[in-house]
Amino acid sequence: MRQGVTPRRRLDGDVSLPGDKSISHRAAILNSLAHGTAVISNYGPGEDCLSTLRCLASLGIDITQTATDQLTLIGSDRELEEPTNVLDAGNSGTTMRLLAGVLAGQQFHSILTGDPSLRSRPMGRIIEPLQSMGAIIHGRGNDTLPPLSILGGPLQGLDYALPVPSAQLKSCLLLAGLSATGKSVIREPTQSRDHTERMLINMGASLTILGDTITVSPSRLKAQNVVIPGDISSGAFWIVAGVVHPDSRLLIRNVGINQTRRGVIDVLRQMGANLHIKNERVEGGEEVGDIYVTSSNLEGIEISGPIIPRVIDELPILAVAACFAKGKTLIRDAGELRLKETDRIRAMGHELNRMGGDLEETADGLVINGPKTLHGAHCSSHGDHRVAMSLAIAGLMATGETVIDGAECTAVSYPQFWEHLESLGGKSYC
Ligand code: S3P
Repeated sequence: MRQGVTPRRRLDGDVSLPGDKSISHRAAILNSLAHGTAVISNYGPGEDCLSTLRCLASLGIDITQTATDQLTLIGSDRELEEPTNVLDAGNSGTTMRLLAGVLAGQQFHSILTGDPSLRSRPMGRIIEPLQSMGAIIHGRGNDTLPPLSILGGPLQGLDYALPVPSAQLKSCLLLAGLSATGKSVIREPTQSRDHTERMLINMGASLTILGDTITVSPSRLKAQNVVIPGDISSGAFWIVAGVVHPDSRLLIRNVGINQTRRGVIDVLRQMGANLHIKNERVEGGEEVGDIYVTSSNLEGIEISGPIIPRVIDELPILAVAACFAKGKTLIRDAGELRLKETDRIRAMGHELNRMGGDLEETADGLVINGPKTLHGAHCSSHGDHRVAMSLAIAGLMATGETVIDGAECTAVSYPQFWEHLESLGGKSYC
């Protein structure tokens, strides 16, 4: 699909976000391992979250859609069924990595595959520690790439220092640890999103966190109803649009603002954003608030070090913000961005330069000089949802028309994105 975006004189209104993608995956996977029945509300409507549900259904889990964004799931008490076919995780790294941790401990054979993008993403990081727990798991490319073949069985706990600050890797090993004998100790180099830990504790798992060390013991989980907060990674597009646009007032409702996810708020505030969190509350073990943003004068800053895992998915849209900020913005220590749905360093550098930005790629980030007046251009999403949405926001602020090829991939995390863009005054056409 080719999508056009044209600038608008004013951005005004409010938006309610789709359910958080990371929390949705976990709510479905953990409840399918629990005993009892759970109702999950505001489940993420994107393709990635649906991939998780399809895989769980193929593993014998009974899932019923009970309202538009609500489902009821009957837990298996860790007794999944051998799938009769290959499990397809689509574009979703979270589905593949978390399910691999679950399947490693199940007494049957399964194969996990995905779309071409997912089949090019690194899996050695999960294969190696799962093998050391006793799983028979193999992948293409000398055990580095999907598809993954998993012959599950008895696992032993492990003591493992994560080589990268990855919540997917951490969660994979915590899930494997749930069915291993003995304790599993996972040490994080830098804290990554902690939704798995929070949900496991709420569901009664034996899990402790001491500084950067998480210890989990074999546990029986109790099903838990979850109301999924709005996805801050989707909200980040409107937050940046609101602060960068010269005449805007946007209210983004019901945003998950868990400390380990809200790096985009901290970064934008440091850049000088007029950003206010209202109505802060806790729902289902996660902090939630409404975010109000208005036009702001941003200044370039350095984004590096321990904040990187807390903004990892928001760096593409922060690169857009940096094009409008005064001075230099340096993004460093973000080599993981090259291993996402596409190489996001290359994609954002390339596409924003086409629009008149001044971005220079480095091995682990970008150097961005601003402020620049962007102009409309013919761009590509590179098949990556966050690249497509970031370019759409850049297009809202550019002169003339921006055309994005491959824009349908926004459905991976945010199927209503184009509709919401219209409703906020961001005129666009097909
Ligand atoms: C996710 C973790 C992050 C993030 C991804 C979702 C998760 O990946 O980029 O979109 O739900 O755990 P890594 O943990 O591999 O950095």
